[in-house]
Amino acid sequence: MFRTNTCGELRLSDAGREVTLAGWVQRIRKMGGMTFLDLRDRYGLTQVVFDNSSDASLTEAANHLGREYVVQVVGTVAERTAKNPHLPTGDVEIIASALTVLNPSEVPPFTIEDDTDGGDDLRMRYRYLDLRRTPVRSNLELRHRMTMEVRRYLDSKGFLEIETPMLVGSTPEGARDFVVPSRMNPGQFYALPQSPQTLKQLLMVSGMDRYFQIVKCFRDEDLRADRQPEFTQIDCEMSFIEQNDVIELFEGMAKHLFKEIRGIELTEPFVRMPWADAMKFYGSDKPDLRFDMRFVELMDVLKGHGFSVFDNAAYIGGICAKGAAGYTRKQLDALTDFVKRPQIGAKGMVYARVGEDGTVKSSVDKFYSQDVLRQMADAMHAEPGDLILILSGDDVMRTRKQLCELRLEMGRQLGLRDKNKFACLWVVDFPMFEWSDEEQRLMAMHHPFTHPKDEDIALLDSDPAAVRADAYDMVINGVEVGGGSIRIHDSELQAKMFEILGFTPEKAQEQFGFLMNAFKYGAPPHGGLAYGLDRWVSLFAGLDSIRDCIAFPKNNSGRDVMLDAPAPLDQKQLDELKLEIAPIEDK
Ligand code: AMO
Repeated sequence: MFRTNTCGELRLSDAGREVTLAGWVQRIRKMGGMTFLDLRDRYGLTQVVFDNSSDASLTEAANHLGREYVVQVVGTVAERTAKNPHLPTGDVEIIASALTVLNPSEVPPFTIEDDTDGGDDLRMRYRYLDLRRTPVRSNLELRHRMTMEVRRYLDSKGFLEIETPMLVGSTPEGARDFVVPSRMNPGQFYALPQSPQTLKQLLMVSGMDRYFQIVKCFRDEDLRADRQPEFTQIDCEMSFIEQNDVIELFEGMAKHLFKEIRGIELTEPFVRMPWADAMKFYGSDKPDLRFDMRFVELMDVLKGHGFSVFDNAAYIGGICAKGAAGYTRKQLDALTDFVKRPQIGAKGMVYARVGEDGTVKSSVDKFYSQDVLRQMADAMHAEPGDLILILSGDDVMRTRKQLCELRLEMGRQLGLRDKNKFACLWVVDFPMFEWSDEEQRLMAMHHPFTHPKDEDIALLDSDPAAVRADAYDMVINGVEVGGGSIRIHDSELQAKMFEILGFTPEKAQEQFGFLMNAFKYGAPPHGGLAYGLDRWVSLFAGLDSIRDCIAFPKNNSGRDVMLDAPAPLDQKQLDELKLEIAPIEDK
């Protein structure tokens, strides 16, 4: 038997037992005639003691161990004199009677402890060593528990887990595809799925009724902290349902996860906020509702007083930071610099402090009387001690987005974005289309299979930009953790949608003919949703990046630095695939 126990298991009640442990050498310390070994495995750390006075050669062997050697130790469990309250096994130690080196190790490139000296890049290159560290390993354990709970919940609701192919056809909408050349069909390419969207809809045509899959999706898009080129969706679809049924079932799943994984009972129904309100009050389709600080539009109050910046603005909006009137000039200048960063792009920021006596002092005092400033403060429900921050601009949406960034930054500075507090909501009634400057046409905001709201169908011809969709996103703490929609199940309406999106009937047939044809054979009303598993795990683990809950993630340039991928193919493979590489310009 390799081991009788794991390194996280033994307690005082085991004292006197003879045990065999196996694991990695985390650390060796020599103290007088004693050698202490911290032995680690997936389950924890156990201290092993070698006593020179009882067995000199065994202690000598222990002294020759190096970090990360794999060893097996036989010994007796004993009560520790100096207990370690921070370790679950901290009341005991193993008095060693035998030691076997199962495999030596080179000196690792960084220390494998909770606090490591390894930088990001180094840890990614040796990710298999990084994964030995408790903080990283525990993220994977959490991920496992979450997928188990997801399966349990969905199984209890009658969902079937069905796999869909990874080699599919390229679709023109959405992000860029990762493509795979086909040797047997020279000059032709598969694409890796951006999501199993059309396939799950076909499963509804097949009568599968309730489908789910925990599935890898691939998107060739710019990377951010919450985006990886390959990521995992909890992808679901249901037939014979309405929007409310989908929302309730998946809100139920969210509550189940909160309860089982975080021990948090969410009893209230989640807020359902129309997209238009989310944009108006928070400047974002994924508002962080852990704190209020709603936007107040100030056009009526502040326009027409001779301050040309405001007089010429298409939008003036403010936020009220409770109790922040004490912000210094230096802090306010830093906030102004923050909103003027090129990524945010505001031209400037106006501020006003509400004094303890109720008077309002602003950075544009010379244009506004105390009366007008008071009116503004009242409109914002500002009280003595509050700080008002105002942005304006000539583009309503752009200015709201800038104010959103300022709101989030103020929330951060005032400590209102606590990682252990959760604010969940549904954003509903998304616009069906959005204008793409790049493509110079309307694009589907969610995807082209989304059903327009019944009451807006009449607008499809006359004012498509005003059409709202039966689409919904779940947002937690400002993160979009999932999204879905009710789908079109009628081939004529689907054809109309493609027409509005600028597809000729031939092009639509060529690219989505398989779906439109299927809809001719009795497609049930259906809809669904996909949760982003990586985002859920990182939210529950309090991580800043989804990378930390993925065993082998890509870096910000989409590279796997451990596998050194992507990499060139050798000429033989290129020849087999009938591929030629065009000259590559230096970046
Ligand atoms: P959507 O594109 O909104 O919808 O994706 C669903 C959820 O997947 C997560 N997500 C990502 N996570 C990490 N890295 C990425 N690059 C990434 N992209 C998306 C998000 C998002 O909410 N087929 C539809 C779903 C449906 O309509 O049923 C879809 O893919 O959490």
